[in-house]
Amino acid sequence: MDLNSISLEPIRTKRVAILGYGNQGRAQALNLRDSGVRVRVGARNGVGAELAKKDGFNVESFESAIGQSDIVMYLFPDQVIPQIYEATQKFLKPLQAIGFAHGFCYHFKWIKPVAECRYFLVGSKGAGAVLRDAFERGGGLPGVYALDREDESFEILVQSYAKAVGLASQVLLKTTFQEETECDLFGEQTVLCGGLPQLMESAFETLVEAGFSSEMAFLECCYEAKTIVELWMKYGPYEITKRISPTAFYGGLITGQRMVDEKTKAEMKKVLHEIQSGQFARKWKAEVESGEANLVAERERLKHSEIEKVYRDLSVTATF
Ligand SMILES: NC(=O)c1ccc[n+]([C@@H]2O[C@H](COP(=O)([O-])OP(=O)(O)OC[C@H]3O[C@@H](n4cnc5c(N)ncnc54)[C@H](OP(=O)(O)O)[C@@H]3O)[C@@H](O)[C@H]2O)c1
Repeated sequence: MDLNSISLEPIRTKRVAILGYGNQGRAQALNLRDSGVRVRVGARNGVGAELAKKDGFNVESFESAIGQSDIVMYLFPDQVIPQIYEATQKFLKPLQAIGFAHGFCYHFKWIKPVAECRYFLVGSKGAGAVLRDAFERGGGLPGVYALDREDESFEILVQSYAKAVGLASQVLLKTTFQEETECDLFGEQTVLCGGLPQLMESAFETLVEAGFSSEMAFLECCYEAKTIVELWMKYGPYEITKRISPTAFYGGLITGQRMVDEKTKAEMKKVLHEIQSGQFARKWKAEVESGEANLVAERERLKHSEIEKVYRDLSVTATF
C-alpha cells in the first residue's frame, strides 16, 4: 500500500465522536484535532473528562457526541465496551461508521452490530501515550485496520482516519476483525504481557535467591530487556549479532533454546487454540463477572513485590 496516497481530506469532511478519554481516546482525539479533523469527546464525569477539558475539549454526554457525528469510536476497556455500547446503541444512526481500536468485542460478538451502521477497527501497534508522543515528533506507529464489508469509499475513509491518528506513517496493514483479535491476544499473552514479564521476573528472582543484589538483578534481567529490544528493532535479528559480544551471542545461542524449547512452542499452540476456540474470551468474561478478582490480586502482589521496589528505587524509567 502506498501510504503517501492516503489523503486526510475524506476524514476532514466528517465529524468524529471519541467516546472514552483514556489511553487511546486521548491520543486519538488529540491527533485527529491536530490533523484538522472535527472531533467531539463523549465521556462520563471522571478523570478522563477532566483531562479532556484541560486539553481544550468541550466534553459531552455520549448521546450528544454520537448524535452529531458521522464516525463513533468506542475507546473503552474491552470488558466495559459491551455495557456502554448496549446503553448507547439506541442513539446510533443509519450509515454511521462505528469504530474500535481492537476487534475483541466485535469478533467475539460481545456487541450486536446495528444492520444500518458500518463497523471498522483501527488498531495501534503501541500504547496511546507512545502514539501521541510519536505523532508529536512528526511520525506515528504501525497500524492495522479492518472493515465489516468490502466498500471502496468506506475503506478510503478508514485509511484516512488511520492517517489522521498517526497510524499510516510507516506501515498500515489491512486485516480482518478475526485476524487482528487473535494475533493481538496471542502476542499479548505469549510475549508482551505474559511471556516477557514472567521471564524477566523469574530471572530476577533466580539471581536474588542466589544472593545477588536486587539492583544488579534488575539491571541485568529487566532494564537491559528494553535496550536489547530497541537494538533488535533498529538493526534486525542478523545485524544485532554484530553489536553484542561474541560471548553474549554464544551464551544466548546455547541457552535460549533451553529457555524456550519445543515444550514452550507446544504450549504456545495450545494458547492459540484457546484464543481461536473462544475459550479465552469465556474465561475473561467470567473474570470480569467475578469483579476481576485475579487481576486485583495480581496488582496487589506486584505493588508489594521486590521487583517493583527496586524499579522505584533505581528510577531507570522508559524514555517516552
Ligand atoms: N492501551 C492502549 O493504548 C491500547 C493499545 C491498542 C489498542 N487498545 C484498545 O483501545 C481500546 C481502549 O483501550 P484503552 O487502554 O485506551 O482504555 P482505557 O484507557 O482503560 O479507557 C479509559 C476510559 O474509559 C472510561 N471508562 C472506563 N469504564 C467506564 C464506564 N464503566 N463507563 C464510562 N466510561 C468508562 C474511562 O473513564 P474515567 O476516566 O472516568 O475512568 C476513560 O475515559 C480497547 O479496545 C483496547 O483494546 C488500547
